[in-house]
Amino acid sequence: MNWYSEQEFSDLKKQQEILAKCRMPKHIGIIMDGNGRWAIEHGLTRTEGHKQGIESVRDIVKATAQLGIPYLTLYAFSLENWKRPSSEVGVLMNLLEYYLKKEIKELNANNVRLLSIGKISSLPKKIQRLLFDAIELTSKNTGLTLTLALSYSGRWDIVRAVQMIAHDIRRGNISPEDITEEVFSSYLQTAPLPDPDLIIRTSGEMRLSNFLLWESAYSEIYISNKYWPEFRREDLYTAIIDYSGRERRFGRISSQLKQEIPNHLEKVKTEK
Ligand code: FPP
Repeated sequence: MNWYSEQEFSDLKKQQEILAKCRMPKHIGIIMDGNGRWAIEHGLTRTEGHKQGIESVRDIVKATAQLGIPYLTLYAFSLENWKRPSSEVGVLMNLLEYYLKKEIKELNANNVRLLSIGKISSLPKKIQRLLFDAIELTSKNTGLTLTLALSYSGRWDIVRAVQMIAHDIRRGNISPEDITEEVFSSYLQTAPLPDPDLIIRTSGEMRLSNFLLWESAYSEIYISNKYWPEFRREDLYTAIIDYSGRERRFGRISSQLKQEIPNHLEKVKTEK
């Protein structure tokens, strides 16, 4: 299925308006929250909530690609989510397997490059294989980079980076004085990605929940009151329009920004 030829005319027009009017984010991160609450409020099981959440994933991935946004990172399973009842963890792993099996051809056909961040070795072997195959298959694609955060936690990635730096110091590859913010960033699993410009969280909760902690230093945060299973492209457009209206000062004052765009922090990361 080609996402560009099948697009409805009214939606294409809406996207064109957004592209004409808005300063677009290069990287959007989404904390997909509220599957369980959506299900309970609709008299359904939590499993149904997660299943419906996949429909939102599909629509948001498509819309992001159609808009030409280069990076989308979805927080699909946190390291802390392993503490959920094993039956629910099993359901989430099955859905992930289903998504990787069913969607990969379509993602590839639409030029999407898949990446993952997180403690991938803790996922079931079957899923690890599917994930590596999907990443390999799509590695040359030049459209949207879709990163799935799986068994991920921001603190975990920071600690892992510190351990790797410590090893490199012990081996004499670098010295402590060489460690700058850029060098540190290059040890994180998110090194191939620019910092997220916009982080969206659904279900009205106002926390980062261990998502991209280092990378979100200057991200704009948008909270949607909708639960993830009901969050669709219209809601994404609303978030982008809201983001576009924000003044991103990166520690400076308003009047400086008119002379100095794009700002240095954004530049450093996107040049990677
Ligand atoms: C949060 O809702 C959602 C998750 C922990 C899992 C997100 C997973 C999906 C949308 C499906 C699989 C994703 C992919 C990319 C294939 P919650 O269960 O925390 O909801 P609650 O806070 O209302 O209980």
